[in-house]
Amino acid sequence: MCGIVGCIGIENPVDYLIDGLKELEYRGYDSAGIAVKDNNEIKVIKAVGKLKNLEDKVKNVKFYNPEFGIGHTRWATHGKPTEINAHPHVGKFSAVVHNGIIENYQEIKKFLQKEGIDFISQTDTEVIVRLFEYFYNGDSFEAFKKTLEKLEGAYAVLLITNSDNKIFFAKKGSPLIVAKGEGIYFASSDAPLIGYANRAHYLEDEEWGYVNENEIILFRKNEKISPYFKELPASKESAKKGGFRFYMEKEIYEQSDILKETTLGRNTPNGIKFDELDRSFFDGISNIIISACGTSYHAGLVGKYLLERDAKIRTNVEVASELRYRAPLLTKDTLFIVISQSGETADTLETLKMAKKAGLKTLALCNVDNSSIVREADKTILLRAGIEKGVASTKAFATQVMTLWMLSNYLAQKNEYDAINEAIEVTKVDISLHEKIKRLSKRYLHGHGFFYIGRDIFFPLALEGALKLKEISYIHAEGYPAGEMKHGPIALADEDLYVVALLSKNILYEKTKSNIEELVARDATVLTISSEYIEMTDDFVKINKTNHPMVEFFEMMVITQLLAMEVAIRMGNDVDMPRNLAKSVTVE
Ligand code: G6P
Repeated sequence: MCGIVGCIGIENPVDYLIDGLKELEYRGYDSAGIAVKDNNEIKVIKAVGKLKNLEDKVKNVKFYNPEFGIGHTRWATHGKPTEINAHPHVGKFSAVVHNGIIENYQEIKKFLQKEGIDFISQTDTEVIVRLFEYFYNGDSFEAFKKTLEKLEGAYAVLLITNSDNKIFFAKKGSPLIVAKGEGIYFASSDAPLIGYANRAHYLEDEEWGYVNENEIILFRKNEKISPYFKELPASKESAKKGGFRFYMEKEIYEQSDILKETTLGRNTPNGIKFDELDRSFFDGISNIIISACGTSYHAGLVGKYLLERDAKIRTNVEVASELRYRAPLLTKDTLFIVISQSGETADTLETLKMAKKAGLKTLALCNVDNSSIVREADKTILLRAGIEKGVASTKAFATQVMTLWMLSNYLAQKNEYDAINEAIEVTKVDISLHEKIKRLSKRYLHGHGFFYIGRDIFFPLALEGALKLKEISYIHAEGYPAGEMKHGPIALADEDLYVVALLSKNILYEKTKSNIEELVARDATVLTISSEYIEMTDDFVKINKTNHPMVEFFEMMVITQLLAMEVAIRMGNDVDMPRNLAKSVTVE
């Protein structure tokens, strides 16, 4: 997730821009930059990699009378993390920073190119500044307004231009805050503002306008409105966690918004589009092998159900540490897909190299552009999850499953536009449901272990639910196919065996229900998650009724994540940094 800062009306804007970007580091970035108006000139400084690189470059720039500026940390979504693709993007006399995705950027770019305008980056953002300059004929306010009218997608935008001592801003879909202190400041989240400003207006979608040294001119659509100021939080650390107790909690809560980014420009009313792929890439493919570790492996298993059922392509999912040491049959009609949040997992990377050596086409589903896996793979679909801080993966898993769902739709030429949007909607955390899970978690602390059970796609979700619980609560938990319990594990059933039953209304409802009955009959303590109320189990968490199993999947996913977290919190564990685990495992 990119981060934005901006300021006007203070003595040294460069200090705030650099300090602010540092405070946004926790959101993740691969490059950063600032643009500062100094003596009638916009100076732009950018650097790839650590913020320190930008800071060092800035130290070598002489500023005479810096008046105002904007800054950005970038998490690549369109185009590689290079200096050219880093923000701010500049035209002839203006500069822009942007967070989000301009869905119709190719259309705008083509139009402007026909008008003779050249582009230098591969990003969607550059169209904003080029369009602004195209519309500019002496009135920057009008040009900015016209530019916004043309943009589709999600954005938080700050734009400056040489001809005006103003910062133009707009927000739709991506966060942006304007705040007042000695001067006027912008940021994507509270953290940079603390210590500089005391009152903040949290921009709503469709709000836009400009600021000069002492006033904020604000519009909502076409109506001029007054800012609604709130006090800023007192602590930077809690501001970074967005007021949540743990990063993991924040990441669970942001999943719905993150999924909007994952699907933006890809899930369209006319079906799935992947700018990064060409259909011919799949020519001659009749098999898929998915290789991954941990949570990413579980996402892969969901992919198998979807790809075989919908796209009718034989799919095998492999644990990378196993695959790399056996002698798998790798035939050239196989597409080799690796899934990795970090892009650095050693076992996954090695299997990718192995597949390449065997001459297979390779595709990475990955969250980190320019990571080893992305560099190695033929093609990549970026997950767009932003940085994930909690060691136990939540939002990255959500984006992996969503990307596999879109990929299977793409290959099957199936359009599930509405179901995908519905799934994104139900991923939003319902506060009263969270309260309920907090309460019922106290029953599940002292048994002799957990089974998570489900069938079909709910089996990998059971595996992932169990993994989440064991990672952060240190309680033994297993995911099991519901129908397989009777072949052994049911011997463990007694009142101290806890079972989380994922009961889909859409897939094998009666059969899964019978499996639950078998456990209830043997006195296991059962928590059922379903849209259909069943009386027989000890606890019940209701999800929304829907006729699509993937919508059920995403809602149940959130519940299993919250349950694991609440149990771990009750056990007094550090949810974000569980013992013995590392976020990225670069050794065998
Ligand atoms: C580590 C992490 C897991 C993760 C796995 C694979 O074990 O603790 O949360 O699922 O690596 O990581 P990757 O970055 O390849 O998805």
